Amino acid sequence: MSSRLLIRGARQLLTLRGAARPRRGRELSELAIVENGAMVVENGRIAAVGSSSRVENLSLAKGALELNAQGRVVMPGFIDCHTHLMYGAPRLEDFSMRLEGKDYEQIARAGGGILSTVKLVRAMTPQRLKVQAQRELQRMAQCGTTSVEVKSGYALEDHTELRCLRILQSLDGDPLDVCPTFLGAHAVPPEYEGRPDAWIDHLIEDVLPVVAAKNLARFVDVYCDRNAFTLVQARRYLEAAQKLGFGLRVHAAQFQDLGAATLAAEMGARSADHLEHLNRASIPLLARSQTIAVLLPGSVLFLGSSKYAPARALIDAGAAVALATDYNPGTSPVWNMQMILSLACTQMRMTPAQAITAATVNGAHVLGIAGRTGTLEAGKQADFLILDASDYREIGYYFGASLVALTVKAGRILGRPAEGDFHGKTSD
Ligand code: NIG
Ligand code: FE
Repeated sequence: MSSRLLIRGARQLLTLRGAARPRRGRELSELAIVENGAMVVENGRIAAVGSSSRVENLSLAKGALELNAQGRVVMPGFIDCHTHLMYGAPRLEDFSMRLEGKDYEQIARAGGGILSTVKLVRAMTPQRLKVQAQRELQRMAQCGTTSVEVKSGYALEDHTELRCLRILQSLDGDPLDVCPTFLGAHAVPPEYEGRPDAWIDHLIEDVLPVVAAKNLARFVDVYCDRNAFTLVQARRYLEAAQKLGFGLRVHAAQFQDLGAATLAAEMGARSADHLEHLNRASIPLLARSQTIAVLLPGSVLFLGSSKYAPARALIDAGAAVALATDYNPGTSPVWNMQMILSLACTQMRMTPAQAITAATVNGAHVLGIAGRTGTLEAGKQADFLILDASDYREIGYYFGASLVALTVKAGRILGRPAEGDFHGKTSD
């Protein structure tokens, strides 16, 4: 079989071609659309992309297997840069408590919350954990995600945290790119109850060096909030992680702004995530920094809050913004990035173009993989989607749906297209 693919008949081909840096300000609105576009993929990479009239006449296009987009939208795959997808099982008891009126913190105190997932994950075999994570990755791929970050932080004891990271490592490239983040500072485990500083010390002295030496994670994250770690603890922890060469991520201002977003910006963290309760005075500092604001509207919706992160203010101030699912069993049981784009548009008033940029190329920058994915440009990995839509704005509009007709990862078609669709013939 030919290792070349010709994708033709795209009514809108969203290339997101542009500067090789996180997009901010007006750049967030620039999708670099080719109308009536085509693309040639060779050995999993994009060999050519542009107007049909040009690309289809390239000698490279001759003899390639054809994929006809039939007037639909072609765009880069989603980069979901913040998830906790290896969680064992859903927290349906928490869900019932929530419906009875308890809030996230009350549920945690009543025996639910992060520590109930910790209990479960510790008891699961590596094989069962792997199968659970694989199922989530498949669901995500079907909805158009082609690269995903996954955090540990549901074991909170040395060997099981490391085990989780090893499982994540084994899932990388099969077929999605999986980028592991160490989130040992997610909660205080029962063994350290009431002694958060001792847990942070233990992580710094005994666990981070092992994660670094074994190269099990690229990033280190800390949950800095009320009922979680303090700003002083977060700073101490992040400084130690930075010394070991980790990229930094921070769960900041989800329930209260303790100053973690400012800390992230000052330390040159890769991202500050959540930001629902961000103090407005911190926006200019974040906007001037290299730190990307990762917004997670799924958790706001699921927790029944109406306090979304100030996306418009961040964008207007010049911040680089990314979007992600925060897929987890407690606050955001959603694997579909398209739902997140809808929420970004309808609840945070981002435009569909801004949301697409935030969910693709900017997510790739958060993960440090923008050199190989996130846009449709020659030389990049062929990670793209064919949408059942003729206008990209439909993606923010049809909320709760999946418009993804086909997900292609590194040139490989994932899942089976509907009968009679896209059927390939060889181009001549
Ligand atoms: O990003 N708030 C901290 N961590 C997760 C929730 C984890 C959980 O409840 O299991 C979040 O929302
Ligand atoms: Fe999270």
